[in-house]
Amino acid sequence: HKKVAILISGGGSNMVSLANSMVGDHPARPCLVLSNVPGAGGLNKASDMGIATAVVDHKDFKGDREAFEEALISAIDAHAPDIIALAGFMRILTPRFITHYAGRMLNIHPSLLPKYKGLHTHQRAIEAGDSEAGCSVHEVTAELDGGPILGQARVPILPDDTADTLAARVLPREHALYPAVLRRFVVGDITRVDL
Ligand code: GAR
Repeated sequence: HKKVAILISGGGSNMVSLANSMVGDHPARPCLVLSNVPGAGGLNKASDMGIATAVVDHKDFKGDREAFEEALISAIDAHAPDIIALAGFMRILTPRFITHYAGRMLNIHPSLLPKYKGLHTHQRAIEAGDSEAGCSVHEVTAELDGGPILGQARVPILPDDTADTLAARVLPREHALYPAVLRRFVVGDITRVDL
């Protein structure tokens, strides 16, 4: 099996959907769930699923991003993953880190990229008057939220939507999209998935 390290900062619902997908004849298995936030809810979920966990708290590095990333790399490479899946990992990564995992790192972003890179994606889509929103899985390159798009899922934006109601509509689509893209990516298939 290929080994997948999943990086999280929060509740880890995308991590759970990825981990649940890697069973049976799936060509990969999760080898590590790593969080930069010590209390992240996803850590307990990963432990309950029998997946190794690690914490590298960026606050321990007092703004030294290089040292933080070297510690991240050490913690990740101790598990020798083939693929890195960012799943709600809320730290910006430098080219040093991204280059180390070039061609084998994915991210999920809650917008229809290239629209709304960065934060507050759903609020921005509503304020722009868009009729649809969604999520994207992309390869991670040095440009923030800018790598090749491997898949997207779309939902309508409804008249009374708030950022929260829209997020609640998009999140289940994330849980479908990310495993679908990962399963292909593991075997070198980067044809686009549209849900
Ligand atoms: C997800 O909606 C993901 O798309 C988003 O954070 C959430 C994490 O939820 N990611 C980003 O905003 C990346 N900049 P989860 O912890 O339940 O998977």
